[in-house]
Amino acid sequence: MIAKTTIDTVFETARVEEVIGDFVQLKRAGSNFKGLSPFSDERSPSFMVSPVKQIWKDFSSGKGGNVVAFLMEHEHFTYPEAIRYLAKKYNIEIEETEQSQEEKAEANEKESMYLVSEFAKKYFHDILLNNEEGQAIGYSYFKERGFTNETIRKFELGYSPESWDALTKEALGKGYKLDYLDKTGLTIVKEDKQFDRFKGRVMFPIQSMSGRTLGFGGRILGNDKKAAKYMNSPESDIYYKSKVLYGIFHAKQAIAKLDNCYLVEGYTDVIQFHQAGIENVVASSGTALTPDQIRLVNRLTKNITVLFDGDAAGLRASIRGIDLILEEGMNVKVCTFPDGEDPDSFARKNSHDEVVRYLEANSKDFIQFKASLLMDEAKNDPVKKAGLIRDMVASISKIPDRIQREIYLQETARIMDISEQVLVNTLAQLVQKEVTDTGKKQKQEQKAFEVVKNENSETAPKIDVLYELERKIIEILLLYGNKEEEFEDVLLKTNDEGEIEEAIEKKEYKVYQRIYLSLQEDEVELANPLFRDIYNDLVNYFHQNESFNMEHYLMHLAPELAQEVTDILMYEERELLHNWEGQNIIVKQKDQTIGQYVSETILTLRWYLVDRIIEELKGSITSGPDSDNTETLSMAMDYYKLINSFSSKLGRVMSRYS
Ligand code: CTP
Ligand code: MN
Repeated sequence: MIAKTTIDTVFETARVEEVIGDFVQLKRAGSNFKGLSPFSDERSPSFMVSPVKQIWKDFSSGKGGNVVAFLMEHEHFTYPEAIRYLAKKYNIEIEETEQSQEEKAEANEKESMYLVSEFAKKYFHDILLNNEEGQAIGYSYFKERGFTNETIRKFELGYSPESWDALTKEALGKGYKLDYLDKTGLTIVKEDKQFDRFKGRVMFPIQSMSGRTLGFGGRILGNDKKAAKYMNSPESDIYYKSKVLYGIFHAKQAIAKLDNCYLVEGYTDVIQFHQAGIENVVASSGTALTPDQIRLVNRLTKNITVLFDGDAAGLRASIRGIDLILEEGMNVKVCTFPDGEDPDSFARKNSHDEVVRYLEANSKDFIQFKASLLMDEAKNDPVKKAGLIRDMVASISKIPDRIQREIYLQETARIMDISEQVLVNTLAQLVQKEVTDTGKKQKQEQKAFEVVKNENSETAPKIDVLYELERKIIEILLLYGNKEEEFEDVLLKTNDEGEIEEAIEKKEYKVYQRIYLSLQEDEVELANPLFRDIYNDLVNYFHQNESFNMEHYLMHLAPELAQEVTDILMYEERELLHNWEGQNIIVKQKDQTIGQYVSETILTLRWYLVDRIIEELKGSITSGPDSDNTETLSMAMDYYKLINSFSSKLGRVMSRYS
């Protein structure tokens, strides 16, 4: 693990505008920078970077956060990958926390395997481009398949010489250990003999999402029907077939940007598509898709389009696997190619525009596709048809979203020419069965659903007021939370005559303390769960830290909260986005009246929340001869009094609300 001190140094050193500047062209605009969103296609810039706050915000996609969040979004790095990237960029030495001897050895071993794979990739690629045999055999093979030099370079295609141990010898000579050549499968070790696994093949390096070389696919040159066409690296500590998708490194940006991923079978399909200008494509490498692979795509998009070869005999078998994608809650489309064509041959024969048009015209929703495909053969056979219906409903039952399930049921009923009720009943049976299998899951789903329902039954404008108020509270905490301000307290005192009277006392509080105490007084919590989390997090932070440093706070913030916090901080900037050019950002002069501003906001929020409680109490008043509402009414009266005290404090008439 990376030591916390290293992470801190990275955050202190990294400048968000410099890091993003490597990916997005940024132009100065007042105290900020702006540029075209890297997450969507747009003409006028809505992407902003604030060097002061060290955050960024993309108004077209709604994404935003700190420097690490950018790398995680844009490069699809994991958190540690992002830290390592930054450390490298800023020449910061990475300190690892104490690892056990075993962990150390394992990490070293994996690192060595990565290194030797990287070496092999460069070696094969170099042979292909610069060695006589490589050029004559490997390079000309790829040329024949229509790959350009640019494509060959991009995918770092290579050639492994027709010799028993060319790579092994070269690697050993360069100081790589036989052990790692063996463990990565590059070399087959038999007693005291060593052989290159990929001898005489053209090489396709397989990369991870972040671009590390994990393994290889090696293709024989001819069309020898007897020999296996592809030889692949064996599974190893760095290469798990089920967790890798060929091409994901080169496709990730396009997949996220276009919000769709094409899934093909082979290496050459991916490469030919890229060459045709379609970059959001990955290959399952000829095996059935695994949940891990689906999740890899799910990090980038919710939409998968599976492309099938025209003559795919196994079509029926492979569509079964697609239920897995539905289970992950993703949307699946299917597109088949004309007889005898696969994505590779089709993209080679047609222009970019033609391919795009074909994909658009022929991508069918998976459920529809499956229904119509199977319907053809079951049409006149009632038994088959019944089986098909169950099959379809089984697929639909995998979809986690209820509304979507409903829509698919309707659609299937239409295609199958059967009443929807029958399908609903079949689905109910299936779900019922699952309930008994996994009792808990269903209950949770039900619960989540109910919560949503309750929230929706609120009237819309009410939610908005509350939302804005709560958001304002967070904004105040972020901007002024640690400031000392003077506040007025109303105290009850006994005067000399022994009467109770109100006295106003001025007292200094930190803004966050004031907010915290005020909200606690009414025992209210923020209604919006996200705001509530941020609120709790902020209050904790203030409790624990003497001073408030925005950068420091942001860098320790959980990613799911960071988005919202960035939103709030960038809020002012958004107003100015449209007439930004050359304009200096005006800082709001809230400072002069922070105390008043805070009091006003808290009071309004408290009043609003209490008002809601009164409404609830009113709603629970019962009628009828036996009903006793004394307690409810007295509670309501107390709250009314509270509201009145707010209103006098606020110096406003709240007749509207009484
Ligand atoms: N595959 C494999 N081993 C084989 C055959 C296929 O690993 N013996 C995998 C490869 O990843 C291959 C994919 O399955 O890319 C799809 O197979 P296929 O369509 O036969 O290969 P293509 O990539 O289309 O290769 P080519 O066009 O060169 O025949
Ligand atoms: Mn092919």
